[in-house]
Amino acid sequence: MPTGFTLISAASLFLLLLDCCSGSFVGVCYGRSADDLPTPDKVAQLVQLHKIKYVRIYDSNLQVLKAFANTGIELMIGVPNSDLLSLSQFQSNADSWLKNSVLPYYPATKITYITVGAEVTESPNNASSFVVPAMTNVLTALKKLGLHKKIKVSSTHSLGVLSRSFPPSAGAFNSSHAHFLKPMLEFLAENQSPFMIDIYPYYAYRDSRSKVSLDYALFEASSEVIDPNTGLLYTNMFDAQIDAIYFALMALNFRTIKVMVTETGWPSKGSPKEIAATPDNAQTYNTNLIRHVINNTGTPAKPGEELDVYIFSLFNENRKPGMESERNWGLFYPDQTSVYSLDFTGRGAVDMTTEANITRSNGTTWCIASSKASQIDLQNAIDWACGPGNVDCTAIQPSQPCFEPDNLASHASFAFNSYYQQNGASDVACSFGGTGVTVDKDPSMFITTHHKYCI
Ligand SMILES: *[C@@H]1O[C@H](CO)[C@@H](O)[C@H](O)[C@H]1NC(C)=O
Ligand SMILES: *[C@@H]1O[C@H](CO)[C@@H](O)[C@H](O)[C@H]1NC(C)=O
Ligand SMILES: *[C@@H]1O[C@H](CO)[C@@H](O)[C@H](O)[C@H]1NC(C)=O
Ligand SMILES: *[C@@H]1O[C@H](CO)[C@@H](O)[C@H](O)[C@H]1NC(C)=O
Ligand SMILES: *[C@@H]1O[C@H](CO)[C@@H](O)[C@H](O)[C@H]1NC(C)=O
Repeated sequence: MPTGFTLISAASLFLLLLDCCSGSFVGVCYGRSADDLPTPDKVAQLVQLHKIKYVRIYDSNLQVLKAFANTGIELMIGVPNSDLLSLSQFQSNADSWLKNSVLPYYPATKITYITVGAEVTESPNNASSFVVPAMTNVLTALKKLGLHKKIKVSSTHSLGVLSRSFPPSAGAFNSSHAHFLKPMLEFLAENQSPFMIDIYPYYAYRDSRSKVSLDYALFEASSEVIDPNTGLLYTNMFDAQIDAIYFALMALNFRTIKVMVTETGWPSKGSPKEIAATPDNAQTYNTNLIRHVINNTGTPAKPGEELDVYIFSLFNENRKPGMESERNWGLFYPDQTSVYSLDFTGRGAVDMTTEANITRSNGTTWCIASSKASQIDLQNAIDWACGPGNVDCTAIQPSQPCFEPDNLASHASFAFNSYYQQNGASDVACSFGGTGVTVDKDPSMFITTHHKYCI
């Protein structure tokens, strides 16, 4: 691992993009199948520091909901499959679930989606029979409170809902799932809720290496795959899988339902057999995915269509069962350092002051807090620099030499500059999620009304 910040900054850069435009967004899944993760409060800070605006969680844990209160981050929360039976049986169960698990921090915590059940076709306990009745009861509970327009109800699926996904135009739902899929699609169409799909080109590649090229899975293919029925050209598997869903929906005459990708990603590490699970491939997949999604490219069948995507996952999760790769999907290690950097330099809209530039300085530049940074962003950035960033922040503690002036801009400037000088004084080491700026005059020499720099 290189020192933390190059990586973290690249991640910030990526996440800066996430809130740049209306239209498609990229969020991150915050799975918690691990025993070594930071507390939810710390995670909320990390997420804010990196300007992540959309987060998916898999339950409605109150500590997590509380941690995200007043952050402006939009949360997708979930009902686990094990609760579907109870929520499907009685309306009163759905009413009290909403009251006790969702409302305590709402609307301070901005909940915008509830996934009722996850990949029920993969679930052994007949969850698929209960999923639509549970969705209906949750929607009714929301309606009673007038929240059904603000919080959308849907359910996630694996690509296993399809019996056929290639060529995309032949995409079709597996008829053995019709018993719950047909009423679910009617529910989604009626309530303008998206069809949620978890898409993993990684598995398609891992499980049929002879048929699928790695480049095609990683959005790097130079050649195109042609759908013989439509003549549409596919340069990546992600698009082909999404279009298979659109065609499956159209075949059942559901033309208005939008598709949302509730999970996708690439593992950075795997067992010796999982040769494609590397940091390089993970970086390539997620970088290309972001570039592809963020500019509303759409897919060959739906060019320009909004397609929101959640990257799986925020952290490596050590309690996940299965192959080695299962525990290595994270963008971050539990200590909050990045697993790999994400390269976003291909995008024109990137603010040049935050563009990665590995040019080294010999100490003739300094990094200080931007006057435009909000107090909360500065606090988060200080916490990061003095924590995972490994800056010795003793000097800005009470009674220490740089405690005065006692304000966030001054403390942040101390922490930022220390980090910056320790990490080669490259531009990327002064990003701090957009709250740092480099200056070429020694800041300790200029004192303004509000700032005196102790650097
Ligand atoms: C699943 O539920 C359906 C409807 O309640 C029922 O007909 C079916 O027998 C159940 N299947 C299993 C395996 O329990
Ligand atoms: C359709 O789903 C059934 C039940 O899960 C499964 O046994 C069957 O293999 C699936 N068919 C296809 C073509 O995937
Ligand atoms: C959007 O992304 C596509 C595919 O990655 C790329 O070909 C296109 O040039 C991009 N458009 C803009 C405006 O960045
Ligand atoms: C990086 O720094 C060099 C030297 O200062 C400069 O010429 C170059 O334009 C910079 N690149 C970016 C992307 O800012
Ligand atoms: C540092 O940079 C300054 C200005 O570019 C230069 O004059 C000086 O020689 C450099 N010092 C070292 C040790 O490289």
